Amino acid sequence: MFVGAMKDNQTTGQLRLERVAHGYNEVAVLQELSLTVRPGELVVLVGPSGCGKTTLLNILSGFLTPSSGTVQTEGLVRTVYQQDGLFPWLTVRENIGMGLRAMKDKKRREQELQELLDLINLQSFQDHYPHQLSGGMRQRVELARVIAGDSDILLMDEPFSALDYQTRLRMRQELAFLLEKRPRTVVFVTHDIEEAVQLADRVLVLSPRPARISKELSIDSPRPRNPTDDAVVEAFKAILEELGLQIHR
Ligand SMILES: Nc1ncnc2c1ncn2[C@@H]1O[C@H](COP(=O)(O)OP(=O)(O)OP(=O)(O)O)[C@@H](O)[C@H]1O
Ligand SMILES: [Mg+2]
Repeated sequence: MFVGAMKDNQTTGQLRLERVAHGYNEVAVLQELSLTVRPGELVVLVGPSGCGKTTLLNILSGFLTPSSGTVQTEGLVRTVYQQDGLFPWLTVRENIGMGLRAMKDKKRREQELQELLDLINLQSFQDHYPHQLSGGMRQRVELARVIAGDSDILLMDEPFSALDYQTRLRMRQELAFLLEKRPRTVVFVTHDIEEAVQLADRVLVLSPRPARISKELSIDSPRPRNPTDDAVVEAFKAILEELGLQIHR
């Protein structure tokens, strides 16, 4: 858990869904789903394509109102999507600055900006535009943008899936590093089971639509994780099995 520097207020950063169901017209997408995410916890959602993961994140962000059930989010929520969320007409520093708009003290704001640029190691690219960066660099700016300022909860929908394998590995480490420095509650959606077991405090496997939580796995192993650790390998196998993807019996 990334709770080291979480605020004293126990419930800030908490997410709670109670018996949430959702459908589009006649199509049932989520069936009575209940879920509590603790402050500072990193929960990963995996499940078959079209089962309702993005719908669930949209409900958590308040973008969608569920057909029934209650949603409680304590704190400021920021969302990262798979696609580039940067403004193409703004530079790297201006994009990150969008996350700092609420900070009125100019000096503090500049300090914060420089610290974030340092964290993502893009100091020398601060005046570049997104199209002048690689996909991995753009996604690092995106991470800095959402982690800037005082947000409490990050919702991430396949944030690294458009990147190549090596960049994806690096982004995983980058995210874990940023969360150590600046703890947040995170709900992270991925199709990449390796990514799930490397990052998660808890993995929730969703069933095909209409989605319910079919399995829940806690992974108690410090990050950065060795992919060959017993806890990591065991979780990996259990998830594959739950998704019906296991190769060996
Ligand atoms: N705005 C919409 N109107 C009607 N149906 C929708 C809408 N958005 C999603 N759906 C349907 O709801 C179901 C769940 O979609 P959702 O995008 O939540 O799945 P997902 O788990 O995120 O899939 P993927 O892994 O492919 O991203 C799908 O069957 C989809 O067709
Ligand atoms: Mg989706």
